[in-house]
Amino acid sequence: MSEEQNSVKPWGGRFTEATDSFVERFTASVQFDQRMYFHDIQGSIAHATMLAEVGVLSGDEKQQIVEGLEAIRSDIEAGNFDWSVTLEDVHMNIEAELTKRIGITGKKLHTGRSRNDQVATDIRLYLRDEIDSIAVELTRLQLGLVNQAMQHSEVIMPGFTHLQTAQPVTFGHHLLAWNEMLERDFGRLIDCRTRMNQSPLGAAALAGTTYPIERDTTASLLGFDHPTRNSLDSVSDRDFAIEFCAFASLLLTHLSRASEELILWTSAQFNFIDLPDRFCTGSSIMPQKKNPDVPELVRGKTGRVNGHLISLLTLMKSQPLAYNKDNQEDKEPLFDCIDTVKDCLRAFADMIPAIEPKKEVMYEAAKRGFSTATDLADYLVRKGIAFRDSHEVVGKSVAYGIEQNKDLSEMSLEELQQFSDVIGEDVFDVLTLEGSVAARAHVGGTAPTQVKLAAAEALERLKKR
Ligand code: ARG
Repeated sequence: MSEEQNSVKPWGGRFTEATDSFVERFTASVQFDQRMYFHDIQGSIAHATMLAEVGVLSGDEKQQIVEGLEAIRSDIEAGNFDWSVTLEDVHMNIEAELTKRIGITGKKLHTGRSRNDQVATDIRLYLRDEIDSIAVELTRLQLGLVNQAMQHSEVIMPGFTHLQTAQPVTFGHHLLAWNEMLERDFGRLIDCRTRMNQSPLGAAALAGTTYPIERDTTASLLGFDHPTRNSLDSVSDRDFAIEFCAFASLLLTHLSRASEELILWTSAQFNFIDLPDRFCTGSSIMPQKKNPDVPELVRGKTGRVNGHLISLLTLMKSQPLAYNKDNQEDKEPLFDCIDTVKDCLRAFADMIPAIEPKKEVMYEAAKRGFSTATDLADYLVRKGIAFRDSHEVVGKSVAYGIEQNKDLSEMSLEELQQFSDVIGEDVFDVLTLEGSVAARAHVGGTAPTQVKLAAAEALERLKKR
């Protein structure tokens, strides 16, 4: 029994006892690494092609291997493949199946490589493809934001600091602030892709191999920029997974901030936006409820992504060179980060274009919070008053406004002149919300003219990607 079972294992030769059935399950990764089947086969085909080029395999052997692997790939895609925990991981499952199908030649595929460089290659190939589709989805989200910003460049809302009304801003300007966060995230994603795009194949178990392999060939067949430089580092490096999760953490942090604002804005207390029903759900007990579940879940998922980043950092901490089985634990956090990022981006990219600002409510809210107080202070400074004194004058006018329940723009000239006699009729140009935002017309400012310009530039950058 034990001999029979061990003969199934590609590494069973030196063992005299069968693997404990719990240990078999405990040490296996096929349950979760089978999702890399496509990239495992892609790597194996490149390896076999190179082995034939350097004469380690014959042309005919290479042909059999490539055809066998392609047939296996089709069967996996059609759902006709039995994954076996006894065969531990995606690599040994596919190799064993190849040997079952093409016989002894299948056993030659592993010449000059190890699962250690194989898995390091597979994860990079897999992650690279996922990064490319994430980049597309992130761009779709940004396009939605920038279009909304363009459309609502003149919509006035209160800008906040400390979540207290501070100064009026335009809704378009607020959306472009979110876009800036995402623009940096995109840069980090591409940095990660650039740094990871090197081929570990050929590092073998840790020290390289005695066969006359051509690492440049496999690197270029797989679309890597070049082979990695050190075999020990190649099989142990998981920086790229950590970098991706760091990207994911920051992206989700940004999405959680936007989510938080969307949630606040849909509340009856703010009532700034309408979020279409298809992004919300109801309550089973309170008939009036319409809950912003989608942004709430995105906000919540930030926690698991941050957790995965810490998992991977801790996984790698203090690991001696080179490969250790610990590294098998890299996959679940990484895969879950990928899945979560894709879902959250999709949710946001679908939701953002559907958001409708309630202009009148936003406008009234901006008026209620004395948001043009700074504009009045700046006006007094232009009339020759020192800023600290003008601050004092405006503070008094605000106190009067609170008492009379009047915004600064709703006071008469005589009422305003009680606080300073330099105030003239022209004060109303700066006290209106429109005047306040229009005056901030410099680069990065909230004036509708600037927002339109910034949105157009953002669009140009997105088109160039
Ligand atoms: N399933 C393994 C992993 O994910 C593949 C590499 C196994 N290498 C080894 N020497 N046991 O890391």
